[in-house]
Amino acid sequence: MTKNRMITFRLLRQATLPALLAAVGSIHAAAPDLSKLPPAAQRTGVTFAKDIEPIFKAACTKCHGDMKHKGGLRLDTLEATLKGGENAPNVIKGDSAKSTLVHSIARLDPDAAMPPDGKGDPLSKEQIALIRAWIDQGAK
Ligand code: HEC
Repeated sequence: MTKNRMITFRLLRQATLPALLAAVGSIHAAAPDLSKLPPAAQRTGVTFAKDIEPIFKAACTKCHGDMKHKGGLRLDTLEATLKGGENAPNVIKGDSAKSTLVHSIARLDPDAAMPPDGKGDPLSKEQIALIRAWIDQGAK
């Protein structure tokens, strides 16, 4: 590399690093407000088969089931739910507050709310609380 090229390269690097940092900063600023999440239910022994599958069947699997996999996501089995979609994982075992599936059902970001606006009734606070408890208890 000639000396001139070196300098150009350095200048470029100096210019792109702050731009990159700014971009990361704006992603950070758009982080969901977790204080708006309904708290997890107190109930113990929450399982997918008993408690969660019926909720997903009623509200989610017409778009996330065996026929349609919107966002690359199926919610009709425990295994598929844990595998997640295009932005997997959506469920972080033991940490419902960090699970994007919980952010979406709590409608923290209107653009990522599930079910999408006008495409089904929002889940109730009780349903969200139960899904949070299920994830916090290890998503079994
Ligand atoms: C009417 C169709 C529809 C229904 C009903 C629906 N979704 Fe979705 N879902 C989508 C679409 C479409 C996407 C793809 C991203 C987007 O366009 O917002 C998506 C994406 C997602 C994602 C992100 C997946 C990823 O990895 O990017 C999650 C999590 C999710 N949905 C959860 C749910 C849950 C939980 C329910 C039920 C409470 C539900 N969805 C109901 C249409 C639906």
